[in-house]
Amino acid sequence: MNVSDTIQGIRQEVASLKKQGKRVGFVPTMGALHSGHLSLIELAKKHADEVVVSIYVNPEQFGPDEDYEEYPRPLDVDLEECKKAGVSTVFTPSDDIMYGDEKFLSIDIDKLNEHMDGGSRPGFFEGIVLVVNKFFNIIEPDVAAFGQKDIQQFRILSRMVEEFNHDVELLMGPIIRANDGLALSSRNAYLDDHQRKIAPGLYRALQYLKKQIEDGAKNLEMMLNHQKAELEAKGFEIDYLNLFSYQKMAPVKEPETGTKYVLAGAVYLGETRLIDNIIIEL
Ligand code: PAJ
Repeated sequence: MNVSDTIQGIRQEVASLKKQGKRVGFVPTMGALHSGHLSLIELAKKHADEVVVSIYVNPEQFGPDEDYEEYPRPLDVDLEECKKAGVSTVFTPSDDIMYGDEKFLSIDIDKLNEHMDGGSRPGFFEGIVLVVNKFFNIIEPDVAAFGQKDIQQFRILSRMVEEFNHDVELLMGPIIRANDGLALSSRNAYLDDHQRKIAPGLYRALQYLKKQIEDGAKNLEMMLNHQKAELEAKGFEIDYLNLFSYQKMAPVKEPETGTKYVLAGAVYLGETRLIDNIIIEL
């Protein structure tokens, strides 16, 4: 397995794969790899001959009070996991390589980021669009895999590909969960024993709400408030818990049949932020 930490190095690697006629798949990550990341590598492998993984904790997508410093960076273990998973090349750039020169330009997002994580984390998706745009320009993959876990990220990046004419096909992989239902996340490592035990409560609330919505329950707002109160009583602090339209990533009061929705929540357990969602097609 090749590991490149320069733009020239990774470009050469990808060029030589492409010269051999290989279709290149790409899985961008911030490392601390878990089965969710590995499932995306598997997905990319199904749609490509060779898989490139990037491991880079992107400072541009962290707010000033967020966990950029604490974010886990077990690089050696991650490289071992990539090797076992049959990854061809890993890109591990430094901040200097990604953002070394003074920045004269930035990318604005006008839609899709007013609510959900975009609403709560100013600058978050601008940072993601910036770094993924750079990765796509550096690696020029044929396909790239992202998780449903970060569904707003997938939606915004899909628009980026369309509006900026990137020649790449995006794949969305399902949410990989622990046995008790908790969506896997590099941030789960921050949870203490008690927090870890109650953490699946978010998914359980989403599952309960999904059933109610699919059964045509009318009082959505009341049900959401009730689930929020139950979660709060257990020790969760709620950022949001709501039904959003897939198209606009905006809250919906009365779902209609024939439409795609995302039932999504973000909560805090102590300082740790957890997100989860379920897609609902009525
Ligand atoms: P990171 O949080 O490391 O996630 C990398 C990819 O793994 C994302 O596409 C994410 O949706 C996916 N993922 C995370 N948890 C998952 C789970 N439990 N099941 C399935 N997929 C899961 O997302 C980022 O990094 C960054 O924003 C990045 C795209 C790398 C840009 O910096």
